[in-house]
Amino acid sequence: LNLFIMKNLFKAALCLLLSVSAPGIEAQTVSIIPKPAQIIVKEGTLTLTPDMQIAYDAACKEQAEYLLQTVRRSTGFRWKEAGKKSRAGIVLEIDTLRVPSAEGYTLDISNKRIAICGHDKSGVFYGIQTLLQLLPPEIYSASLQSDAKWSVPCISVVDAPDHPWRGMMLDVARYFYDKDFVKKYIDMMAMYKMNKLQLHLIDDSGWRLEIKKYPRLTEVGAWAGKNEKRLGGFYTQEEIKEMIAYAAVRGVEIIPEIEFPAHMLSAVAAYPWLCCTGKQHEVPNQHFISRDLLCVGKESSYQFLADVLEETVALFPSKYINIGGDEAVYDRWQECPKCQAVVRREGLEKTSDLQGYLTNVVANMMKEKGKTIVGWEEIIQRGAVSQPVVAAIWHNVADTIQAARLGHKAILSPATHVYLDFPEGRTPGEVKAATWMPPISLEKCYSMPTGEYAATGTVLGVQGCFWSDQFIHGTMLQEIAPLNENRSENYAEYLTFPRLLAVAELGWTRTDRRNWLDFRNRISTHFARLDHKGCTYRVPEPRIVAEEEIDGKVRFTLAPSVQGATIRYTTDGTYPHAHSAVYAAPVTVDSKSDFRAITEVTPRHASLPLYFAPDYSAYARYGAFLAEWKSQQLASGTLRIESTGAMVGNGTFDITFVRTRGSGRLNLGKLVQFKRDEQLAEVPMQAVLDANTPAVTYRLTQTAFEAGVPFYFEVEAAPEGDIAGYVFVKKVEE
Ligand code: ACM
Ligand code: ZN
Repeated sequence: LNLFIMKNLFKAALCLLLSVSAPGIEAQTVSIIPKPAQIIVKEGTLTLTPDMQIAYDAACKEQAEYLLQTVRRSTGFRWKEAGKKSRAGIVLEIDTLRVPSAEGYTLDISNKRIAICGHDKSGVFYGIQTLLQLLPPEIYSASLQSDAKWSVPCISVVDAPDHPWRGMMLDVARYFYDKDFVKKYIDMMAMYKMNKLQLHLIDDSGWRLEIKKYPRLTEVGAWAGKNEKRLGGFYTQEEIKEMIAYAAVRGVEIIPEIEFPAHMLSAVAAYPWLCCTGKQHEVPNQHFISRDLLCVGKESSYQFLADVLEETVALFPSKYINIGGDEAVYDRWQECPKCQAVVRREGLEKTSDLQGYLTNVVANMMKEKGKTIVGWEEIIQRGAVSQPVVAAIWHNVADTIQAARLGHKAILSPATHVYLDFPEGRTPGEVKAATWMPPISLEKCYSMPTGEYAATGTVLGVQGCFWSDQFIHGTMLQEIAPLNENRSENYAEYLTFPRLLAVAELGWTRTDRRNWLDFRNRISTHFARLDHKGCTYRVPEPRIVAEEEIDGKVRFTLAPSVQGATIRYTTDGTYPHAHSAVYAAPVTVDSKSDFRAITEVTPRHASLPLYFAPDYSAYARYGAFLAEWKSQQLASGTLRIESTGAMVGNGTFDITFVRTRGSGRLNLGKLVQFKRDEQLAEVPMQAVLDANTPAVTYRLTQTAFEAGVPFYFEVEAAPEGDIAGYVFVKKVEE
């Protein structure tokens, strides 16, 4: 056989392969996240082959290389460049006329060819992501997957984002994630077409960015603890450049956050002259919010900001610079003669206006450098800012109206829906996570209102936040059963996923194309993709399809929320495990609270159980459930109760301890309320809770309520013998 005939025979065989979808090969269901603007599924499939050829515009060479590398690792295919575009089985192009929207793309798959056309490089990258989501999950694997069938449905996708800002904030200050973890986070964001990463580089507990002019920021400010026991770290400017380049290929822009005037004790620890008092501090190894602000009365503070920001903006190509600005408490400025001199000189009304003054000074510095200021909502709420900025609204999304009125832009980052450091639920055994607001389930996150509170154009988009103060360096971590190990990087992934997929869709997909039930179906196919990406996640509990009362019993019909996973269950109130019964048909139980069921992805990766909280209706007169306690947990004699979100607004509240079981007694003493680290009211008490006195009530007057700020109280509670109960809270009508 001569070479010519061989080539042609091979071509003929290839054509057959491409045009006929082999019987029994199911095309992947189309479950793209975020949901594209338009999809038309056509007849037939295309199967990738080792000798496909690729053609691409020079401008998207990096994206083509990304595709080639991704495909090579899992399929082993080494696609070559086609000499002619017409020969190529895969074509990547950029065409701003055919695809008019920024970051938009079209993806056309026929039985002969895959064609991706992007408005820009990001558009091409997103077309590639959609293609990967149409392939089997094994496509993401870093190792050769010889059993997979690499077929995709013939399809036509026309897509573009609804919002230009689809972000995540990663708090690398409270916990230092190394550059490889940050790259993985970027890669995961990019998989779901997110495009802005705000790196929270500075906080009280760590300074993470090398600044050449101020070496102590990282020599001192990046570390908590001493010598070989110290914890922390920082990114060198070279590492930052590497992360920026990695992100750029994936359409992700890294926006540095240089936080001031609060949350910067790490800098103050390095250079005490930055704060009003000049007092030497240490980098804390526990979570707390320092009151030592940057002094606005000293020239050296402005020089410091100018120098630090100059190095920062020279490093990061983003047109944005984030200046933080949240949660400043102004008592140091109030007491500082130098700061008060500025209040008088500038004719400010009140001390908090100094923050607006400072924001203006910095905004002017940054305007000269062509950068736009981004910050938390406080930057537009503490005095007038004279030029347009971008405010991340983290309390009330309706505040976008205020941003618009003041001529600013807004990003939706409400803590109620997209703060991924809150747990997903209250099931016992859930990770230790933020408690100052109620949990955020996947459904709640997905259901965030994104309607234009302000006129179109003011709301740039949506940004999820992942804070790390729950596992700050030096804080003991609990073991979490689903992870079964103690690494903060796994906590970060567990809390971020799968909710990041919901945040991504909130930013990308128009409201009228979003639907929770549809999203729930699509996401059930994505867990396998996360597995192949090597990304851990919180496994969702099984889905309850029906819960029916039949002859005083309860019948549960369940469905898996992870495609292909097993459901295991118990009916005796114990937690199911790898040997519990496998769910195959509806299960009938005597008592609902005895039923538990888990999603088992693998024996080592399962969900928490479906869990039905106890019925508190017998205690309804005491108000809302706040906490549970039992004598075994009260060895210290103090009970700490998180109350954030449970006592909203100022007023009088009754806090009632009730006994539910046990023959012992609980000696109750004073109750002290705290707001952050600040002690508020104290309510004296001397009472005993036991079978004769089953309820004891404290009456507390709250005068310093502030939304979004953590509140808790501590109660002297010394048990004798075995006793357990609840705590309830009720607002007293005045
Ligand atoms: C914030 O959560 N302090 C912005
Ligand atoms: Zn001062």
